[in-house]
Amino acid sequence: MSENREFVEENRRSWDRWADLNFECDFYDVAGFKAGRVALDDIERAGVGDVTGKRLLHLQCHFGMDTLSWARLGATVTGVDFSERAIERARELAGEVGIDAEFVCCDVADAREHLSGEFDIVFVSYGAISWLPDLGSWAQTIATVLAPGGHLFVADHHPALWVYDDTDPPETPVADASLRYKYPYFGTEPIRDEMTGNYADPESTVETVTFSWQHTFEDIVGSLLGAGLRITALKEYDRIAWAWFPWMEQDEAGSWRMPPSVGDVPLLFSVSATKD
Ligand SMILES: C[S@@+](CC[C@H](N)C(=O)[O-])C[C@H]1O[C@@H](n2cnc3c(N)ncnc32)[C@H](O)[C@@H]1O
Repeated sequence: MSENREFVEENRRSWDRWADLNFECDFYDVAGFKAGRVALDDIERAGVGDVTGKRLLHLQCHFGMDTLSWARLGATVTGVDFSERAIERARELAGEVGIDAEFVCCDVADAREHLSGEFDIVFVSYGAISWLPDLGSWAQTIATVLAPGGHLFVADHHPALWVYDDTDPPETPVADASLRYKYPYFGTEPIRDEMTGNYADPESTVETVTFSWQHTFEDIVGSLLGAGLRITALKEYDRIAWAWFPWMEQDEAGSWRMPPSVGDVPLLFSVSATKD
């Protein structure tokens, strides 16, 4: 097994544990979803557009809440994730809310072999890209599963954000806040994290080891161009749906922003692309 393969396996074990943890915690508000909520924000909905009658593939779908939200908006949906536990949870959730959906357990890199047919839309969002060691095979998967004329929409954390230390304690006051450079922007080595709890439930006692990869903006856009896709839109955002740093400030619409005293950095990006 190559070294990256071993790291991806370790990640899969961690995501199996986090699938249960995340499903139960307030962060994801599964109860609200079961009551009818659409778990997609304005960036995702505007970026993808009308999905009525479209075949939508969600890569790295976790336990399927976003995937099923697209079904609520009219799409025929398929979700892919490499965590068996996440896929089990997704199937259970679909059954419970009575939505017809297909969930496939496989690595993004091999997804073409596990999927039948083509898709009008491929959707990828928040917290996906940094788990992939090789964006070349990610982009190839997207290019081969899209039908001619089909679209990709990806929204994720901005690569510039990843260079900063995000480990301030939760009670850090804004007056003490600062951006501290920690990870090289052009770094190619995997970043190893050993942690108790996670982003969704920091108080949890679940212990994991994970590996993530820094990808530059050039890597992301370049991989899609290299797979033959045509970029149709590219955006950067100064807001994010949760507090990446504990001292971020929430605006009236509920988004989190950098305090003016710290300065601004891009927090999210989105890219739209078409298979001609
Ligand atoms: C932050 S979550 C998904 C983001 C989604 N927006 C959400 O919160 O529901 C990242 C997902 O990527 C999946 N994942 C990580 N590496 C993967 C890989 N190589 N192939 C397929 N899925 C992967 C994990 O199992 C996890 O469910």
